Amino acid sequence: MAGRIPQQFIDELLARVDLVELINARVNLRKAGREYSACCPFHDEKTPSFSVSPHKQFYHCFGCGAHGNAIGFLMAYDNLNFVEAVEDLAARSGLPIPREMTESAGDSHQALYTVLQQAADYFKRQLRSHPRAPQAVAYLKGRGVSGEIAARFDIGYAPPGWDNLIQELGGGKTQEALLLEAGLAIRKEGGGCYDRFRERIMFPIRDGRGRVIGFGGRVMGGDAQGSANAAGGTTPRTEEVEQRRERLPTTPGAAGPKYLNSPETPVFHKGSELYGLYQARQAVRNLERLLVVEGYMDVVALAQFDVPYVVATLGTATTREHLERLFRSVSDIVFCFDGDRAGRAAAWRALENALPVIREGRQIRYMFLPEGEDPDTIIRKEGRAGFEARIAKAVTFSDFFFEGLAAQVDMGSVDGQAQLVELARPYLSKITAGVLRYMMMARLAEIVRMTPDRLEVLLEGGSPRQGQSARKPSRPAAYKALTPVRKAIILLLNRPDLAAQAGDPGRFATLEAPGVGLLIELLDLLQEKPHLNCAAILAQQRDSADWHHLGKLAQLPLEIPADGLEREFLDVLRHLEKMSNEQTLDALLAKSGRQTLTEQEKAELQQRLKLKQGSN
Ligand code: UTP
Ligand code: MN
Repeated sequence: MAGRIPQQFIDELLARVDLVELINARVNLRKAGREYSACCPFHDEKTPSFSVSPHKQFYHCFGCGAHGNAIGFLMAYDNLNFVEAVEDLAARSGLPIPREMTESAGDSHQALYTVLQQAADYFKRQLRSHPRAPQAVAYLKGRGVSGEIAARFDIGYAPPGWDNLIQELGGGKTQEALLLEAGLAIRKEGGGCYDRFRERIMFPIRDGRGRVIGFGGRVMGGDAQGSANAAGGTTPRTEEVEQRRERLPTTPGAAGPKYLNSPETPVFHKGSELYGLYQARQAVRNLERLLVVEGYMDVVALAQFDVPYVVATLGTATTREHLERLFRSVSDIVFCFDGDRAGRAAAWRALENALPVIREGRQIRYMFLPEGEDPDTIIRKEGRAGFEARIAKAVTFSDFFFEGLAAQVDMGSVDGQAQLVELARPYLSKITAGVLRYMMMARLAEIVRMTPDRLEVLLEGGSPRQGQSARKPSRPAAYKALTPVRKAIILLLNRPDLAAQAGDPGRFATLEAPGVGLLIELLDLLQEKPHLNCAAILAQQRDSADWHHLGKLAQLPLEIPADGLEREFLDVLRHLEKMSNEQTLDALLAKSGRQTLTEQEKAELQQRLKLKQGSN
């Protein structure tokens, strides 16, 4: 991750951008009273239920529940991640991004990119010229990797020895620090450092722009994972290495896991990078589909056999970040897993991570290979045509989902069907409301032989906080029906400046009512930072678990004219004070019935009684 963006900068950014203008450039907005409205860009609809408040700098949709500020809108509409959305807005408003961030995103990383590229060049040269290169070339040839494809993926060779790369690129403390930061070298206990990658086939990993950001290195031994013996056995110990042994860690040569990957570095994040994405984009002009496989060798082999639209995760499960990144390139993603239990489990994890990301227009499918095969072996046996025939038979997201759930229950019984609904509930609620979710619900209804309406009641009945269905948008509750605490919060979201008139928020601390903690937190925040607008309030990074409730409250329409808000706020506060007073009074009176009150308590009782009389 690039350095954390200071909250203050986000606040300022949100104060500067005009959400109406931002959205209007993408969705045609119409003025409707104090707000703007349009047909929702996040779900299919004929009558507009999407509304943008210029005042709150906040959008929401009554239909699908989508809501957020300018950053959220760009993330959802343009498929950006948080940092990208902030960068986009900063560029628009001409605000320079704070130093700590530009540093980590730009200049200081340049040196890392440079040294990583130099390392890639070095490894590539070694595959041609190192005295031991023939062994590496033989290994690749043995696995059927053509010279042309090795060149396309810049496959290289890290020779045996502790400091080949350091000798090549080293020189001075600065360079050493850079190699360490780039993950190319490892610090020695007594000082100094040694090469991380030794006697391995090297796969450079590039980012979307083609910059080398890390490496995967494979031992040239057999398939035994983490088998130090197998790998160690093939490790030639040069005299030089032997001589240095006492000063080095005990791991000799390339012993260790089958694949060694770069560690997390400022430019390399395993959980979001995809091996081969750059090459796929280079090879296919109009990329429409991406196949996600598990291994480096799978990517290389598929590309060699003319299936170039392929990427691999780097030995991790497919994360949400992976998916967002993939969907920024294509709208059709096919996951390819092994057919065994581990493959199915990995596929299910990938499905879970995909729930918040899928929506209509984004297709995810799953294909499973026969046990004991991987894409590398299959494509060599069946060629492109055979492999693509398998892709064509991949199961859809919803098939895989419902089959996976149905396998857990007895579908022959009514009980089993009810269980299926229960199992599906938490998953369905993670899908963005919209056409796709509706279709998944309709499908579930069909499976359990229920009308969609009945199912909807069932799904929503068990857990009232579940989102509304895409088909029957329910209007949010009216302002008038809310508790005073919620009213105060909503008024503050609409008019943050009112916090200045609230006095000491601490006096509500003893009040027992849901949401009081949140109200006090909000008042504290706004008294400290009076310039925050609604959007910026929602964007605060808070530990409080309730903070996200503000998002829902911000969507409620206020049925009060703008010039009446201040009076309403003061009325609500008075009401809260009265509630607080009465609660304390009741407690003191109750106590006085049981035991004698202390002097202090008596005084408080007097004061509270007076207050009560005064307010009546
Ligand atoms: P596989 O063992 O399936 O890889 O691991 P593969 O590409 O099929 O390996 P070979 O070369 O044909 O034997 C899949 C991926 O998991 C990661 C790597 O990214 C690998 O490509 N992995 C695997 C590791 O990071 N470390 C390991 O020790 C093994
Ligand atoms: Mn393999």
